[in-house]
This record gives sequence, C-alpha cells and structure tokens, in this order.
Amino acid sequence: MGTEQKWTAADVPAQHGRTAVVTGASSGLGLETAAALARSGAHVVLAVRDPDRGAAAAARITAEVPTAELTVQPLDLSSLASVRDAAKELHDRCDRVDLLINNAGVMWTDEIRTVDGHELQFATNHLGHFALTGRLLDLLQEAPEARVVTVSSYLHRLGRIDLDDLDAERRYSRYRAYAQSKLANLMFALELQRRLQESGSSVRSVAAHPGLAGTGLGRDFPAALRLAGPVFAPLFLQSAYDGMLPTLRAATDPGVRGGEFYGPQGRTETRGAPGLVRAGRAARDAGTRRRLWEASEQLTDVLYPL
Ligand SMILES: NC(=O)c1ccc[n+]([C@@H]2O[C@H](COP(=O)([O-])OP(=O)(O)OC[C@H]3O[C@@H](n4cnc5c(N)ncnc54)[C@H](OP(=O)(O)O)[C@@H]3O)[C@@H](O)[C@H]2O)c1
Repeated sequence: MGTEQKWTAADVPAQHGRTAVVTGASSGLGLETAAALARSGAHVVLAVRDPDRGAAAAARITAEVPTAELTVQPLDLSSLASVRDAAKELHDRCDRVDLLINNAGVMWTDEIRTVDGHELQFATNHLGHFALTGRLLDLLQEAPEARVVTVSSYLHRLGRIDLDDLDAERRYSRYRAYAQSKLANLMFALELQRRLQESGSSVRSVAAHPGLAGTGLGRDFPAALRLAGPVFAPLFLQSAYDGMLPTLRAATDPGVRGGEFYGPQGRTETRGAPGLVRAGRAARDAGTRRRLWEASEQLTDVLYPL
C-alpha cells in the first residue's frame, strides 16, 4: 500500500471461517474490534469479565450485523484460575483460534492485590494475557495463519520493568505500575514473536497501540483527573473506532509481519491512520525481555513449549 493511502477497515480481507478471541470486548476498543471483525465475517468470541455486559455488547453488534456469529466467554484476567477455566472452555468450543486480541486493560487503579496476590494492573494487563496466550497456543498452532495482537500504549515509553519488584510490593505508584504493564505488553509481543520464529511456528505475534482514544479507561483515574477529563479530552482524543484501527490492521492486514508494532501515524502518535510505529528503547532490550518472560512463566505457572 502506498504511503499516501490511508489504511481503513475497508481494507480488511474477508474473515469468514476464522475465529477471533477478543479480550475486554464488552466496551471501548475491544467492542469496536469485535464489531469490526464480525462485520468481516469472523466468528468472534467476546472474552469478558462480566457476562451481562458481554451479552449487551453482543446484542449491540448483532443489531448492526444480524448475521454475526458471536460467543460470550467469561474471563477475568486478574484471576489465573479464571484464565485457566476460560482456556479450557475455549478448547471445548473451538477447534482452532485464528486471532487472539489481547486488548483488555485497566489503568491507574488504586493499589489492589488480585486473588493471586499480584498488583492489579500488572496482573490484568500483562500476566493474564501471558497466561491466556500460553494456554491457547495449541489452538493458535492449529490455524494456518494465526496471529496474536497485544495492545500496548504509547506510555510504554515511560515504563521500566522492575524485575526485583514486578508486583510493586515495596512502593506503589499507579502511574509507574500502568507504564510497566504496557511495556510488559510490548515486550511480551516481541519476545513471543522471537520464540515462535525460532521454533518454526507459523503463528505471528504483533503489537498495537491506539494513541489516545475516548473509552471507559479513565474510570479508575483520581477524582481531579476524572473531573477535568470532559473539558480537555475532546482536544486530544480520537474516537474508540479510530483508536481500534491499529489493532485491526495488526490483526488482518496480509502485509503485517511478526514483531511489528502498529499505532496512529499522527506526529505524537495520539491520533491518525494506523501504520508502523517504533518501540521505545526499553522495549528493545532483549535481555530484559527474556527475564520478564521467565518471571511471567514462574508467576503464572504457565510454561510455553517455546
Ligand atoms: N483508550 C486509550 O486512549 C488507550 C491508550 C493506550 C492504550 N489503551 C489500551 O487499550 C486497551 C483497551 O482499553 P479501552 O481504552 O478500550 O478501555 P475500556 O473501555 O475501559 O475497556 C477495557 C476493557 O477491559 C476489560 N477488563 C478490565 N479488567 C478486566 C479483567 N480483569 N478481565 C477481563 N477484562 C477486563 C473491561 O471490562 P468491563 O467492561 O467489565 O470493565 C473493558 O471491556 C487497554 O489495554 C488499554 O491499556 C487505551
């Protein structure tokens, strides 16, 4: 595609016969991604923590796409037992998974420990997706051209992987914990691609970020930020639909290669048409990527055959 031509959802090839699992599909970017994939003919599994919200999301998609093939799959990424159960149910339901979209996330939450004792943002955004992908790897390997798309953030550039305190037990900052989790998302996507390639797998791992998009992600922000949001947000934000396009492109553009990172092409990557973007310096540190992978295997008890 020429550089002058903007990639849009109209460029998505037909997805009939393919199964896509989208985490956090009950709202925001996940709902937009699920809807776009359903429009293209994919069977979409809406992997959601609240089945009622999942059913409402499915109803919204069906209202627009009456032929949509949708399944609501309960999944709480902050609980490793829930991830294990969801993966088991997906094995019962699906012969293969063509697309896994690791999208769900929380941002800037209060200091909260999960049922497994992990810091909530690291657990939900990174560990849950690490465990889910590992548990679905055999279903992905069954598909001829499977992809895993992991949603990071431009804020990964502010992140630092604290291998001595991944769960922020010594000192908690909501901002640092989010940035670390989004750096972990990007490092996971890159390290997964390296391991897939080395093992000769045809599965591709790609990363994406939405820029700044108007979604429900601010629900855990401190009160002052929540109050200021409606005043300033329209100046900076793109729509959830536009914010989802880098993910959609990473998932469906035939030209995408493993290890690539897609985001908005605007000058500050906050908005714009989806295209290739550069990973920050920390994400390119291969040694830390490997150590984060090993720590994630230990913390989740999910060992990849890669
Ligand atoms: N919006 C942006 O500007 C922006 C920028 C950079 C990166 N991102 C990333 O984009 C992704 C999607 O966020 P969004 O903006 O669409 O926010 P959102 O509207 O708040 O959507 C987040 C989704 O994640 C789900 N979720 C939260 N905790 C979960 C858990 N424990 N288990 C399963 N699902 C869970 C939420 O479910 P409920 O509906 O039940 O709450 C919701 O569906 C996140 O990874 C975020 O970090 C967003």
